Order: sequence, then C-alpha cells, then structure tokens
Amino acid sequence: MQVCHRVGEVVQWRKSNIDPRVQTIGFVPTMGCLHEGHMSLIKASKKENDFTVVSIFVNPSQFAPNEDLDKYPRTLPQDLALLESAGVDMCFAPSAKDIYPQGIPLNVDEQRGPFVTILGVSEQLEGKTRPNFFRGVATVVTKLLNIVSPTTAYFGQKDIQQFIVLKVMTEQLFMNTTIKMMPIVRDEAGLALSSRNRYLCEESVKKASNIHRGLQTAAALLTEKSEVSRQELLTVIEQIWAPFVASGDFKVDYISIADSFALQEKRDVVSRSSDTIISCAVYVQDRRDPSTTVRLIDNVIVSKR
Ligand code: PAJ
Repeated sequence: MQVCHRVGEVVQWRKSNIDPRVQTIGFVPTMGCLHEGHMSLIKASKKENDFTVVSIFVNPSQFAPNEDLDKYPRTLPQDLALLESAGVDMCFAPSAKDIYPQGIPLNVDEQRGPFVTILGVSEQLEGKTRPNFFRGVATVVTKLLNIVSPTTAYFGQKDIQQFIVLKVMTEQLFMNTTIKMMPIVRDEAGLALSSRNRYLCEESVKKASNIHRGLQTAAALLTEKSEVSRQELLTVIEQIWAPFVASGDFKVDYISIADSFALQEKRDVVSRSSDTIISCAVYVQDRRDPSTTVRLIDNVIVSKR
C-alpha cells in the first residue's frame, strides 16, 4: 500500500497507476482510529472499484473550540496496518498545513480561505449543537474529492445528516463523484460503532446500547402501524431512556423524526407515505470518570411503503 502525506504525491500516484478512462477509484474519507464501521465502507469500495483510497485526517475546521480536537484518538500506525491488510491501494494522511495553507484558528471569525456552506440541511439537528460542523465537513470533503478525484465516495448511515449534506453538495455543485451510503455497523448489543465509544468504560458502553433500543422500538411501531402520532413515537423512546436519564447516565440533546431529503421534522401524524429518519444525539456520562461525557448519535430509517 502506498502512503501519501502530500497533495502532490497523490496526484503523482494517480498519474502513474490509474487510467481514468477505464479504471475506477473508490474513496473512503475518515478521521482514523479505524473500526469495523470504517472497514465496511472499505469493503464496499474494494468490491465495486479497481482501486481503493482511504484518507485519514482529523479535520480541525469541523471541531468547535469546546470540542475534542486535541483529545480525538490518533492511531496512525495501527490504522495503516489495518488498511494494508484490508488490501487498500493508497492511504492519504495529510497534515493540516497542506489542507489549510492559511491555517485554521479555532475562532471561526479569524479563518481565511475558501469554505463550502450547504444551506437548508446543515442548520438543524447536528448543526444546531455544532454550528460550524457541516461547513468544516463540506469544505474538507470538497478538498479531498478534488485531490483524489474518485469515481465513488463511501459514507456511513451512522452520520446520516453528513451524508445528506454531502449528497446535496456533490449533486448541486456538479461534482464528478457519486456518493454512496452504507448501513450502520453495530456491536452485539446494538450500539453503533464510533471512535468516541472508546472514551467510555465498559458499563457505560453497555448502557449506551439503549440509545438504539429506543429508536428501534419507535421504528418498529411506525413500521407496524404505518401512521403514528409524532408524540407517541417520542414517548416510546423517552420511556425506554427514562431510567438512564433519571440516573444521570443519559442527557438527551435531541430526538428528531424527519423526512429523508430535506430533513424537515414530520409534525402531528408521522406516516410511511415517505421515508422517515428517526435520529438522536445523547450525552452519555461515563460511570467511572465524572469528567467524561460523550455525545453519541444514532438513527434508524423507516422506509416508505
Ligand atoms: P469518521 O467519523 O472517521 O467516519 C468516517 C466514515 O465512517 C463516515 O462516513 C462515517 O459515517 C462512517 N462510520 C462511522 N461509524 C460507522 C458505523 N458504525 N457504521 C458505518 N459507518 C460508520 O465522518 C467523518 O469521519 C468525517 O466527518 C469526515 C467525513 C472524514 C470528514 O472529515
């Protein structure tokens, strides 16, 4: 596997290895600390393309000053070994200076250079708690797509709003990459795999699987009945989470019941005449370390019928 740290090396690698008229490149952008969720995207790319490229870059512009940029787990040597054994052709692991030559001060007002903003799907849900998050994601993914020029890029349903933002971006900016969404990989108890799960002790990880249990129960109700009041769905989820909220293990940031293209909330009666995304963010308090709280997101899709 080739490892490139500089933009110019990627361009060179493409030139010497790929004939874009007949060969395809699948691309999986990541922030590293790879787990089975990432590996499922890599498997899909390997299956569907002649070459697979993975990027590892902890993107500073998608972190807010109060978030975990410095603490975010960085495990490059282990990640490279995993990618090598998965048969990845090239890994791009740039430095922040290469991607942002004008620097990325944490204060957004001091940032300089081009940024990409996707209006209408970035402000709600994750965007409410993390105001500049999707601007950072859209900007870095634009840069990475321009550098790698892949045929197809793969993203996880785990970050479903991120996928919707990037789909709108690539389609409406007429970018030359198709993007695909792959299903969420979960542990045996149902918890969605995430690099941030490793901040939590075993007991808290176990409790966190109830996040999915709540969403899944609401999804089952909607699947069965086809039409359910929004309040009933919220109540089902809140009841399952109630003991964990009461014990201080969970603090709910949001529960959303929305459509799948504009992420507009479905009000009053939720029906299966269109796809429904039931999604949430929950702060999970670590049982062992009172100073550790991890914000976890999850979602389920109830397909239209
Ligand atoms: P990261 O959190 O490293 O995730 C990289 C990709 O893996 C994303 O598309 C994410 O949705 C997917 N993924 C994470 N956990 C998953 C799981 N349990 N099942 C399936 N897919 C999963 O998302 C980012 O990085 C960044 O925002 C990035 C797109 C790289 C831009 O910086």
